[in-house]
Amino acid sequence: MRLTRRDLLKLGVYSGASLALSACVPARFARRRITLFDQDCPQLPIPADAVPISENRYRLTVMQNAAQLLSGPPTTIWGFDGKWPGPTIRVQRGQMVHVEITNDLGLPDENLTIHNHGHQVAADSDGHPVDYIRPGLTKVYEYPNGMIGDMNGATYWYHDHTMDFTGPHLNMGVAGFYIIEDPDEARLNLPSGAYDIPLLIQDRILDATNQLVYARPPAAVQRFFGFHATTPCVNGAITPCLNVETRRYRFRLLNGSDARRYELYLETEQGQRVPIYQIGSDGGLLPRTVKRGTLEFADPERRTVGISIAERIDVVVDFGELSVGTRLVLKNSDQSTGNPEFDSECREIMRFDVTEKVDDPSSLPIDLKPIVAIDPAGAVERELRFSFNGAEQEWKINGLGYDEFAVDFCSQLGDTEIWHIINENSGLFHPVHIHLNQAQILDYNGLQPSLDTDAEEGYKPWLAGWKDTTILPKVNPQRFSYIMRFPDPDYFSGIFVFHCHNLTHEDHRMMRQHSVGCG
Ligand code: C2O
Ligand code: CU
Repeated sequence: MRLTRRDLLKLGVYSGASLALSACVPARFARRRITLFDQDCPQLPIPADAVPISENRYRLTVMQNAAQLLSGPPTTIWGFDGKWPGPTIRVQRGQMVHVEITNDLGLPDENLTIHNHGHQVAADSDGHPVDYIRPGLTKVYEYPNGMIGDMNGATYWYHDHTMDFTGPHLNMGVAGFYIIEDPDEARLNLPSGAYDIPLLIQDRILDATNQLVYARPPAAVQRFFGFHATTPCVNGAITPCLNVETRRYRFRLLNGSDARRYELYLETEQGQRVPIYQIGSDGGLLPRTVKRGTLEFADPERRTVGISIAERIDVVVDFGELSVGTRLVLKNSDQSTGNPEFDSECREIMRFDVTEKVDDPSSLPIDLKPIVAIDPAGAVERELRFSFNGAEQEWKINGLGYDEFAVDFCSQLGDTEIWHIINENSGLFHPVHIHLNQAQILDYNGLQPSLDTDAEEGYKPWLAGWKDTTILPKVNPQRFSYIMRFPDPDYFSGIFVFHCHNLTHEDHRMMRQHSVGCG
């Protein structure tokens, strides 16, 4: 029997050594309880903005490069223009741009396809899993940014989406931020410029020669839970530090991990929690600012900021009340896998050191941007059941695994649809991602997310904005419903996928597709 690359991936031997894990954990994490307060750390890298090659046109080349992540041998990464994360593409809402992307990895077997996560784009620019950029070739992607259809100013991200290999490719670094700025939002006077910082949170394993590995034995455990690594990275640096001034910052949080979820909170060395004010979700600003991350709330979910794979959470943190010299660590208390090993790793993500006293000209308004609820009248309803097939060791949606030739249903342009997402005894949570549309959450296990939170707790106000990826918890029965309106222009007709964004699950076929505008 000839083993295909996909079989090798299943066996967990793809992409380098599946060596003993103990060699992979930097000694400083393994031995005693040394915290980030006790160590030196690299300065947080902030990805530079991509520079257009001509008006509204960008060019990015995916290539291998060497990065100095630890002392000793450099680490081979794959990045846009050799960078992990890639350059930040920053555009104005309504400004159509084209991005030429070249696969210059120099690896004859590695196809790529680039998806702009959260974007409303035509099907042939969506980075469909088999719409490959073959080695040495270039593809031009067209991003309307709301010029056709509708998009909000928000934090999006572009990343590889190659069928069966998204996990290993992202593990090497093939991801970057894509920020749409909305000129209307300037009136809010939120922290901007150098005080608006994207944070790409990921976990990684480095082997004894400092190379990234995508295998953590036993393979069956990786297969089930997804690839959980041991070392947190932010913007491509291991547990970095950022010097901050006594003022507000906007942080655009993105969880770009394979399978790991985080519950984040900020704590000083003295154990004081500093609030994290959530202002935005995947597809734009929330209607109102939501305070999270402190212990005053009865709802445990509100005491941290839970971020599942591929979600974006825009937040403001105010360091203004802290004195120079204060240090804070961004910590993680997630326990969602139920696997004690995974649920005890990556507890400290990065550090903030307050180094300078300044005045703060920015604001943090309570009211941000109204969202009109999508009217459910006349909506087409669908059910999507997420499950695990133990005999096949494959992940399924409505009993089926991904088939690039199968189309499950047709969604009409201009229609409203409600998708009921159900976790059917799969034993694990799934971050459920839809392409083409930003949706609203109509119902989350019987609860309607609401911003009317001052009177009453428990209404998950952070889910009351635009979402393209939402966690489907594992407790059974567990369900939520997306409501979405398909765009009208015929420009958006074509085939789009929907899938679990646990990359291991996605690569093991927890993905299906539908056709949009099929007559
Ligand atoms: Cu972030 Cu279909 O992907
Ligand atoms: Cu999943």
